[in-house]
Amino acid sequence: MRDLRLRLRRTRRTPALRRLVRETALAPGDLVAGAFVVPGNGVRDPIPSLPGVDRVSPDRLAEDARRLADLGVGGIILFGIPASKDPKGSGAWDPKGPVPEALRLLHRASLDLVLLADVCLCEYTDHGHCGVLRPGKQEVDNDASLEFLSRAAACYAEAGADVVAPSDMMDGRVAAIRAALDADKHADIAILSYAAKYASAFYGPFRDAAGSTPAFGDRRGYQMDAANRREAMREIALDLDEGADMVMVKPALAYLDVLHEARDSFDVPLGAYNVSGEYAMVKAAAAAGALDEKRATLEVLTAIRRAGADFILTYHAAQAAVWLGERE
Ligand code: PBG
Repeated sequence: MRDLRLRLRRTRRTPALRRLVRETALAPGDLVAGAFVVPGNGVRDPIPSLPGVDRVSPDRLAEDARRLADLGVGGIILFGIPASKDPKGSGAWDPKGPVPEALRLLHRASLDLVLLADVCLCEYTDHGHCGVLRPGKQEVDNDASLEFLSRAAACYAEAGADVVAPSDMMDGRVAAIRAALDADKHADIAILSYAAKYASAFYGPFRDAAGSTPAFGDRRGYQMDAANRREAMREIALDLDEGADMVMVKPALAYLDVLHEARDSFDVPLGAYNVSGEYAMVKAAAAAGALDEKRATLEVLTAIRRAGADFILTYHAAQAAVWLGERE
């Protein structure tokens, strides 16, 4: 009689066999590194809640980007931290701001690295919301915000971004940004929409890094409810309809079902954001000796790919690329 006990174990016997039958590949080129840019020169300021990630000035960022390109990492996404904030978030479209400054430097360096610019107002508004407020009210004005988001996107395209990535969750922003880019002769610049972005507790370290915690209220009026999966498909369909070239699910780990369904439903490039809180959890557990950081990180990133992501935004990009270069 055939021995069924080892039926599946035969192909797990050696590293070479496991490699041969592996269903999901994870490569440095699938990863996009998150980076925080501040004004100035020679600045490298560690972020306590994101160990291993620094706030850097454009010149230092250029060094980091060169290293990422050498490691074969796919891209880098820039978040700006301006010198000052105001109600409209006008720093978001200041061509002298840290993000455009950095984009010009990186663009000139012609690295083999996709340059993405996050588009949002929350790092630039003094109230910390992702759009502007209705006059005299503590309420985000969706439609009035579109013009400002479009200005920011056009400013980053002009400075050398390959991709602009709106993360604000205002309705209609993809269409508004597409129109602004086209009108500004940037028809070739792609839009990666944070299409299914949830109101999540896992953005804590990012808000700490960017000083973008809302001064009042929360983001539940524009970001998605964690309880909803079908709604995410509507968000994605609408953004594609408005002209998004790529879409993203964010966060990743508590939303792998959403990612999986998005993969099955839409035949477009799909990203996942392994957000700051997810990174911080692994870091804290590793620092406490509770888990092995390399194994945990590669497992997490592989799982996000397995669920359906083509690419992953992660603060572990450089380190993961190094680990991926080491054989099993
Ligand atoms: C800006 C933005 C946020 C993140 C990416 N873009 C913060 C937020 O929505 O509060 C979070 C990324 C992370 O936690 O790593 N809107």
